[in-house]
Amino acid sequence: MIGIFDSGIGGVTVLKKLIDLLPNEEYLYYSDSKNSPYGDKSEEELKIIVSNVVTYLINRGCKIIVIACNTASTLSDYLREKFNILFVAIEPAYKLAHDFAYNKRILVMATKRTIESDKFKKLYDKYNNSNTILLSCSGLADLIEKDLQNEIDIYLKEKLGKYNDINCVVLGCTHYPLIKNNIEKVLGKVEFFDGSSGVSKRVFELLEKNNMLDDSNGDIEFFDSSFDKNKENKFFEILNN
Ligand code: DGL
Repeated sequence: MIGIFDSGIGGVTVLKKLIDLLPNEEYLYYSDSKNSPYGDKSEEELKIIVSNVVTYLINRGCKIIVIACNTASTLSDYLREKFNILFVAIEPAYKLAHDFAYNKRILVMATKRTIESDKFKKLYDKYNNSNTILLSCSGLADLIEKDLQNEIDIYLKEKLGKYNDINCVVLGCTHYPLIKNNIEKVLGKVEFFDGSSGVSKRVFELLEKNNMLDDSNGDIEFFDSSFDKNKENKFFEILNN
């Protein structure tokens, strides 16, 4: 079974790509809504929270853990050191965007914790960033989680309204692919980049290399840490769309 987690249902955008590539795996999805949002937590707080999630997934017998959350992935080195299990982590697809259009205006949207993390700083510093805008979007994942469409539009208008020359948007939080349309309402047509395809390829490679590929009927189990039935319904609605 593949364990996958996020602070809520945003990681479903990663799970979809995984299922495309690995339809015969069983999945256990952990939505940690009890502790969401992750993006405004301190590193120390987050270490405790994600360690508990990983412990749960290991105890349930997962063979690999996919961190379907850019914010939690900033702690991947810490988790790899602490737990003896395979991990695949997501990161903002800044390399992809830069390779695609290094000379165009790139907007990176992510949570505060991701933008401020050493891990993202290392990635960011590899490139010439003169055309890049970094935008930490506190509170946005929470609005998406609650599916508050009006509030999302107001938030984006306020945050993005001043930009009229953006060509590429890096969706550095796994919730953000769910609001591509809302973003384009403000910025017009843009090219989007996110790390989910890279994650699914890496999971495939690792499982194949370690002879761990499965041939099951592809069951998907959903667990929410605050036992919220609405989350489960929303999760399967997005997954099956
Ligand atoms: N979906 C998460 C991410 O990719 C985090 C959202 C949050 O809880 O702040 O960063």
